[in-house]
Amino acid sequence: MTKTPDPKQFATRFPGDFLWGVATASFQVEGATKADGRKPSIWDAFSNMPGRVFQGHNGDVACDHYNRWEEDLDLIKDMGVEAYRFSIAWPRIVPEGTGRINEKGLDFYDRLIDGCKARGIKTYATLYHWDLPLSLMGDGGWTARSTAHAFERYTKVVMERLGDRLDAVATFNEPWCIVWLSHLYGIHAPGERNMQAALAAMHHVNLAHGLGVAQIRDIAPDVPVGLVLNAHSVIAASDKPEDQAAAERAHQFHNGAFFDLVFKGQYPDQFHEALGARMPAVEEDDLKIISQKLDWWGLNYYTPMRVADDCARTGDFPWTVDAKPVSDVKTDIGWEVYSPGLKLLVEDLYRRYDLPDCYITENGACYNMEVVDGEVDDQPRLDYYVEHLSVVSDLIVDNYPMKGYFAWSLMDNFEWAEGYRMRFGLVHVDYETQERTVKNSGKWYRQLAAEFPRGN
Ligand code: NOJ
Repeated sequence: MTKTPDPKQFATRFPGDFLWGVATASFQVEGATKADGRKPSIWDAFSNMPGRVFQGHNGDVACDHYNRWEEDLDLIKDMGVEAYRFSIAWPRIVPEGTGRINEKGLDFYDRLIDGCKARGIKTYATLYHWDLPLSLMGDGGWTARSTAHAFERYTKVVMERLGDRLDAVATFNEPWCIVWLSHLYGIHAPGERNMQAALAAMHHVNLAHGLGVAQIRDIAPDVPVGLVLNAHSVIAASDKPEDQAAAERAHQFHNGAFFDLVFKGQYPDQFHEALGARMPAVEEDDLKIISQKLDWWGLNYYTPMRVADDCARTGDFPWTVDAKPVSDVKTDIGWEVYSPGLKLLVEDLYRRYDLPDCYITENGACYNMEVVDGEVDDQPRLDYYVEHLSVVSDLIVDNYPMKGYFAWSLMDNFEWAEGYRMRFGLVHVDYETQERTVKNSGKWYRQLAAEFPRGN
């Protein structure tokens, strides 16, 4: 990357009503895991199992956002961004997953949402960003159909209390992670490695999404409803038919398992062909429930995936493909930097599916620079933002309905299995003192956002 563009100039690439935001998620920032009646989630349990999370880090304190939310909202306001994407912790609201409602948990989000409103910040809430109440594991967690109904009930409780002040709501964040990463690859909670379990989770997460959409529409019909997907930008290693076929398989497995359901109301043919009787039980109306029309969808994009057909396929992994590097440039977490992957992905998805308006609900980079003399010089992160935002502006020119952009993340936080060692924030967090320091990337983002009017 050469010179960093002047934010004033750069801003002219976006329409005046483009929405600028920052994002976090409950378990990654809140801490206070035992406060006010919250009960454990699967991530509390998982992070306390030896060897699951880097150096046994856990969410007990995190960024202490639960107590420091006012300071953090002031930070967002000072950054001049218009919207805050946060998630609501199910184990605070319905601590055992079903049954008893915890008013004190709802009170926290009442305060947070009112705090946003008081500062002119729009509220983009996600109902599920991975902190499943641990009690639900007794029934099998997402492998059990009853969990979809528990989610439906939790959605109802949240929308009845908070729905009048939400500017937008997403049911789920990244079903791919909830399903494949957590139940097939075993990297995220609950850490299962089992295709049958993953397939059951796939169907129940999709179903829970649909049941949630119906509740939201019923209770708060004016709140725009969406779903946040980490679609994979699959690039074939060559024009050879075998590599092209491998890329298609990868698309069906990584994206089709969610996009085909939500936007077409069916499982990809390849799933039926490959799995036959192992497909999860689909009850009458499930597909209709899952594929209700959405007002928007969110894309989380970080890195591409390049595939070739040169590895053995086994019975349990009918979609296995060989992933090859795309770019030599990598962030500190080892993810390749390749902004054209974002363009190719959006083009491909709009070709395949009838998609509504799109928000980039997450994009950003992991670089672990520390504070030196009161400053965090994170030029590579800034370059990453400039490159990817340039692509978003190109997509707008090409008439794709890109409506907004949320940087991941407002601040450094608990990066799941990587613990606190991987930093994605525009704001640096000192975990000893909880001091926040706006990084150079954050200062640039602030100048960019300042060019846009803030409504509310
Ligand atoms: C996606 C997830 O939604 C978020 O929780 C995570 O921290 C970022 N990607 C970075 O890995």
